[in-house]
Amino acid sequence: MIQKVFSVNGVERNVVVDPEVSLATVLREQLGLTGTKVGCDQGQCGACSVILDGKVVRSCATKMKRVADGAKVTTIEGIGTPDKLHPVQQAWIAHGAAQCGFCSPGFIVSAVGLLETNQKPSRQDVRDWFQKHRNACRCTGYKPLVDAVMDAAKVVRGEMS
Ligand code: FES
Repeated sequence: MIQKVFSVNGVERNVVVDPEVSLATVLREQLGLTGTKVGCDQGQCGACSVILDGKVVRSCATKMKRVADGAKVTTIEGIGTPDKLHPVQQAWIAHGAAQCGFCSPGFIVSAVGLLETNQKPSRQDVRDWFQKHRNACRCTGYKPLVDAVMDAAKVVRGEMS
């Protein structure tokens, strides 16, 4: 077992964990942050995406031994609030980008990660980003998701409210 002290959504967390256990398991089962979903548990679907030290990662495929002491993790619970949604979350609703909703936390976290690195993505950039991060949706198809990110990008740039 190893001890890890790291920050999740701005709150310091101190856990004792098996070094081989995944970050997704720790988030969900030890810290109660069940907004992070586990679909495939094999790094293939992106449902478990979180932001780790500024990078979008699949938390099911990120073992705790790879999470540095002092690391900063952002999960869906750290993005927006019910009273003040993040622009990506607002756009998700406006475009009906969720159907069953299972993949939405991972997509939204991934999209926020994209907009933190590129506030003016093209539609192809958005598609490439989701492909690179293996975000997969089986319900809506990808058009509403890309539409949502394009609108959210305009809001982030201050071109749309
Ligand atoms: Fe992690 Fe599918 S649950 S990538």
